[in-house]
Amino acid sequence: MKQMIRPTRLLSSLISLILLVCAFPVLAQDSAPTTAPSAAATGRERLSLDRGWLFHEGDIPFPVIIGHQQSYNNAKAGTSWGAAAPGFDDSSWKQVDLPHDWAVEQPFDQNANISQGYRDRGMGWYRKYFRLDPADHGKHLEIQLDGIATHCTIWVNGVLAARNWCGYTSVYIDITPFARFGSDVNVIAVQVDAVSQEGWWYEGAGLYRHTWLVKNNPVYIETDGVYANPVRNAGGQWTIPVEATLASSDETSANVEVESTLIDPSGKEVVSGKTQATVDPLKESVAKLTLAVTSPELWSLEKPTLYSVRTVVKRDGADVDEVTTHCGFRTISFDPDKGFFLNDQHVELDGTCNHQDMAGVGVAVPDSIWDFRVRKLKEMGCNAFRCSHNPPAKEFLDACDRLGLLVMDENRDFGSSPENLKQLDWMVCRDRNHPSIILWSVFNEEPSQGTEMGYEMVRRMAAVVKSRDTTRPVTAAQSNSDLNPVNASQAADVAGFNYVYYDFDAYHKKYPNKPIFSSEDTSTVMTRDEYASIRRGANPVLDSYDDTALPWGLTHRNAWKEISSRPFVAGTMVWTGFDYRGEPQPLSWPSAGSSFGCMDLCGFPKAAYWIHQAEWITDRPILHLVPHWNWAGSEGKPIKVFVAANVEKVELILNGKSLGTNSVDKYQMLTTSVNYEPGKLEAVGYNGGKEVARFAVETTGAPAGLQLVPDRTSLAGDGYDAQPVAVQVVDAQGRVVPGANQLVKFELTGPGGIIGLNNGDPNCHEPEKGNQHSVFHGLAQVILQSAFAGQGKLTLRATADGLAPAEITIDVTSAPARPSVPVAYPAFPIRNWRLSPVTTNAPDPNQQIGDSDMNTWASVQPGRRLPTFNGGSFAIYRAQFTPRAGMQKSGGTIHFPNVTGKAQVWLDGKLAGEKTDAARNNLTVPLPPADGERIVNVLIEASAPGTPAGIAGAVTIE
Ligand code: GAL
Repeated sequence: MKQMIRPTRLLSSLISLILLVCAFPVLAQDSAPTTAPSAAATGRERLSLDRGWLFHEGDIPFPVIIGHQQSYNNAKAGTSWGAAAPGFDDSSWKQVDLPHDWAVEQPFDQNANISQGYRDRGMGWYRKYFRLDPADHGKHLEIQLDGIATHCTIWVNGVLAARNWCGYTSVYIDITPFARFGSDVNVIAVQVDAVSQEGWWYEGAGLYRHTWLVKNNPVYIETDGVYANPVRNAGGQWTIPVEATLASSDETSANVEVESTLIDPSGKEVVSGKTQATVDPLKESVAKLTLAVTSPELWSLEKPTLYSVRTVVKRDGADVDEVTTHCGFRTISFDPDKGFFLNDQHVELDGTCNHQDMAGVGVAVPDSIWDFRVRKLKEMGCNAFRCSHNPPAKEFLDACDRLGLLVMDENRDFGSSPENLKQLDWMVCRDRNHPSIILWSVFNEEPSQGTEMGYEMVRRMAAVVKSRDTTRPVTAAQSNSDLNPVNASQAADVAGFNYVYYDFDAYHKKYPNKPIFSSEDTSTVMTRDEYASIRRGANPVLDSYDDTALPWGLTHRNAWKEISSRPFVAGTMVWTGFDYRGEPQPLSWPSAGSSFGCMDLCGFPKAAYWIHQAEWITDRPILHLVPHWNWAGSEGKPIKVFVAANVEKVELILNGKSLGTNSVDKYQMLTTSVNYEPGKLEAVGYNGGKEVARFAVETTGAPAGLQLVPDRTSLAGDGYDAQPVAVQVVDAQGRVVPGANQLVKFELTGPGGIIGLNNGDPNCHEPEKGNQHSVFHGLAQVILQSAFAGQGKLTLRATADGLAPAEITIDVTSAPARPSVPVAYPAFPIRNWRLSPVTTNAPDPNQQIGDSDMNTWASVQPGRRLPTFNGGSFAIYRAQFTPRAGMQKSGGTIHFPNVTGKAQVWLDGKLAGEKTDAARNNLTVPLPPADGERIVNVLIEASAPGTPAGIAGAVTIE
């Protein structure tokens, strides 16, 4: 039923409105630009917002709304409550820099969700203050939050600015209408709900990716708005069809020229193209042009050559925006009989699936740690990566482009709702220039996959993908029902098979034109360096002989055999490359992390790593032996020995004595048994009767000392660069000692910090933050990060009871600071003012506003302009505020900037300060200590009716 407005109320509202409009003719324009934005002003700035956030762990419930005025304000833009309000007291909150994952700081809790790694996530709040220069007024201003786990609500300056329902998609917020400038500070408040979960793995909690402030001219290229992905046409010619999506926050149409230039890796301009476009106010316009390129250097796995495309927008002859994207010249295709081709060469997809958490840091993974992880996978022989089961950090995709790794990019939430399609659309727009991406995946193992519902949803999702990118196929990772009469794979370009090895042949026969690959397989578990058979109980472990596949999986070797023996299956995505938190299957508490990885959570190799090297590296001999050779007490007893190798034959030699030579099976490799005798067990690999490789395991002595092995010799002193340092417990001869489990303490001096610790043991419940950690089978990892503006020597010293200490020094080299928004923790702002009607006689300065009267007093924000006091000389500014806790105790000073006219400040009904001349000046009054909410009324007397008077600027308390 429609609500009726009673005539009397309507009439009085109308009268008030007319009075207000007459009294304050400039109010409506208070936030309009003072000068027309200049098209020639400086262009785009992208500034990091990562530093200096305030964090509160736990929720802060919103105050209960009582009374008409509160109810009315609650429903208005710009008047948010509680911790979302600009004036909320956050003085006790913890200061954090982003990326930040609060879940990784939690203790392990048996009552918490096993899938999230037995860590409580809960709710949290973040707030961030920042200033904008008055010269930024008139620019298009955007805030970007790259990843928030999991659901969130974002307010900027008290305005509800965004809600996000996916922990893996970014949020871009146009703050232009409600940004504040000069001394008037901007406040971002984010309520993060990590009680909600989207995955069945560890998802972290909080603002775990980067955040940015982007300043643009009013006519600008939209975020992710340049699509410049090279394609080769049927005649073999390369072109880059460039599409630049332009937008405008200006008030008039703009005619612009868009010019794109291809730049080669040496920085040389290769070719340029131009086009014209018209951008209407608050509309989008897509400018299209084509760059023809002859004989570009190709992007390949071995030599991932990257070009840049610089796209410049000119308005009235001046550059108003410029965006540089990267691209690679490569072709991709899937053949239903022969698999995948890169640059017309057959490439078997040797991939792994991975989640995004890393030892020590959870999901707040520094950019350089992504590089580390990509390098580790490539060392294993991996050439492909499945982002399971969500869009990754864009810095990860940059690393794949730069280092040469193929990517299956995957959407999180499956469905055809507007929200689902929006998330998918965002992913494709953000990622479609990356040469590394070869597949768009729209789901993983959906219950509807074998039904018409699944088929129809995939059809819609594929249409969204195709509307943005037609150069890569769409896939879906289906785990059964692929032979159903109607199923999701029919709507995909490439059929993804999760563990359905047994359907490969039948499917291929039924759909001879549909390419197939194994989107997920294996699911074999192993605990690094454990070789005893599975042990359950207090400290459960899983043996590392590639014996223990979960019921739906196969061993690494068997899965590979099923896949690689079928040329029509394009390749594999092994579950998983690295261990991750959560899913400790088949174990449970105290095991908190998965054991599926070829490497543990730190990136230390397990037997599976060597198995895949032997399978995937074909240009050199690979030979590795497990287990270690420390079996004191088992002298004379048989020890199972496994040889991972891609050579024809292997001879085992124990303490100089040959144990015979055996053929190595291409898939199963070699498993044998050797009666234990301490010393050296050596493997010699032969091809064509010639020795091509040697590898040995040796019985070590007792733990004698520590060793620190950095990943790199230096760190860039930008406050972001990070690297893992391996901590090893070694014997007197420097050999890592299996079984060693000492507690190691760390001291760090110099420009940097320890941001995480771990040892890869899924059972270990030690904190991942701090300065000590035990080793697991002789290994642990410390992640070091440089300090902001850091330069000098970073010295890490490790000590442990009874062991010789170790020390390393890493150079922290001076590096340009990442352009950032300066950290500001500003004075307390008094916001949400009301301004009384102008009167000819001095009113009672402490007069009240009726609780239901929203209209006779205007809502104002003292800004850059003064109202004109038409029809009289007197008006009252009034605000209610609750000072920060410290100010309530010790008091403060209220600053009223640029007060024009005589003024009296009444605080809680008492005269607190006065300005007796009418000239424009600042006014300060003391705020005496008192608890709770305060009321301030400022009576202004203009020098004459019809003149500007009042407060021009943000009122603050210090
Ligand atoms: C798959 C699933 C993965 C992971 C894996 C464990 O079914 O897609 O996310 O749960 O099982 O084996």
